[in-house]
Amino acid sequence: MGLFNKHSEIIREASLFRRNCAQVFDLLGYRSFAFIYDSPQDSAAIMRSLTNKRILLGVTGGIAAYKSAELTRMLVKAGAEVRVAMTPSAIEFITPLTMQALSGQRVHLDLLDADAEAGMGHIELARWADLIVVAPATADFIARMTHGQADDLLTTVVLASTAPIAIAPAMNQAMWADDITQNNLEALQNRSINVWGPASGKQACGDVGPGRMIEPQEIADRCIGVFNTTRLTGLKILITGGPTQEAIDPVRFISNYSSGKMAFALAAEAAEAGAQVTLVSGPVHLTTPDRVSRIDVKSAEQMLDAVMDHVAGTDIFIGVAAVADYRPVAPEEQKIKKTKNTMTLPLVKNPDIISRVATLSSAPVVIGFAAETENIEANAKEKLQSKGLDLVFANLAAETFNSNDASVIALSRQSQQTLGPGSKRSIARLMLDLIAEHFEKKTIPTEA
Ligand code: C5P
Repeated sequence: MGLFNKHSEIIREASLFRRNCAQVFDLLGYRSFAFIYDSPQDSAAIMRSLTNKRILLGVTGGIAAYKSAELTRMLVKAGAEVRVAMTPSAIEFITPLTMQALSGQRVHLDLLDADAEAGMGHIELARWADLIVVAPATADFIARMTHGQADDLLTTVVLASTAPIAIAPAMNQAMWADDITQNNLEALQNRSINVWGPASGKQACGDVGPGRMIEPQEIADRCIGVFNTTRLTGLKILITGGPTQEAIDPVRFISNYSSGKMAFALAAEAAEAGAQVTLVSGPVHLTTPDRVSRIDVKSAEQMLDAVMDHVAGTDIFIGVAAVADYRPVAPEEQKIKKTKNTMTLPLVKNPDIISRVATLSSAPVVIGFAAETENIEANAKEKLQSKGLDLVFANLAAETFNSNDASVIALSRQSQQTLGPGSKRSIARLMLDLIAEHFEKKTIPTEA
């Protein structure tokens, strides 16, 4: 994809900075202050860098298991959805209740637990994960994993998953140095398993040497590094889509031909690029894209309420919905009977949702759409000004409504270009490229 290098650089820089600080504080003996020196910018980048990512944390039975609690907290803080699987010996070191409280999810313990399997079975869990991290990984676990043994839940899930896998070994230095362990690790690395660490130093048993699990912060940073971050990673994006329906009486309404396809394509692509997407949708016949939070509404007023309820903290607002311009002044409580030859329906103007968002005191970057039947450019320019938009995508209503394809003119105060024709998914990717550019221009100050 063409999107997205700068944001990932910021995240990497921030991680590096944080690691360097951690080392200095370590040297000074102030490790417990690890979180105090986050600058607001760093923590914002770090906090969002695992948005939409599903991480399965495997915990095996070593003394370093107590650090898995901190790791869980960090991954959750970085935006990941975390599930924890523990081996029977791990629960001798740290309780499943602790891990459940920190991950917010029931801990996976037993391959043969019918109840747990009914919730999310081991194969489902293996498919669910975008990344499996085993921390700490004991010598025994590494041996069983190397030989494809599937004799507990964690080894079974690891064997059944096609997701990237990383292990953070933790063991006594002599066990680490043993040829058997080293051969097992070589075999795992040849199968593209990531081996993170171990660190060297004083061990719980009193020995000194390699075998300490690397710090939770370093494991969390490496998890971030597994995924391609994009310019949209972690941004909060609110999208409206579909038509609205304005009630005339209990069985009739005013609406339009909007299918919602463009909004759903944008939501799907933005979520894929790592954004945290909320989609406020009018009545449509479309499936909610993976990792998109959807709120269903009918009328313009309901859409406005849903938008206002969710707009706080939004980075980018995209108004794709074909909101009905007018609604009946007072919908009838009973079905209107056809007693007269003609009838008049008094209408009142609906609130302009996008303009309301654009005039908020801490308004996000605001993107609008203009579906026109004539004078596309002139009408789009007028909307850009009158509604206070940062960018507007304009096209011919007849060509776009209910179609799988689109071709649009992108208009901002500084530039104009044509995107497409192409499928709505491919146009959505191009639109998000432009949107990311505008977001950066508006929010990242240029050097004087
Ligand atoms: O005024 P018009 O409907 O042509 O403007 C289109 C743009 O304004 C779209 O982005 C649409 O989602 C938004 N809009 C809105 N609330 C309205 C009318 C339009 O958010 N009541």
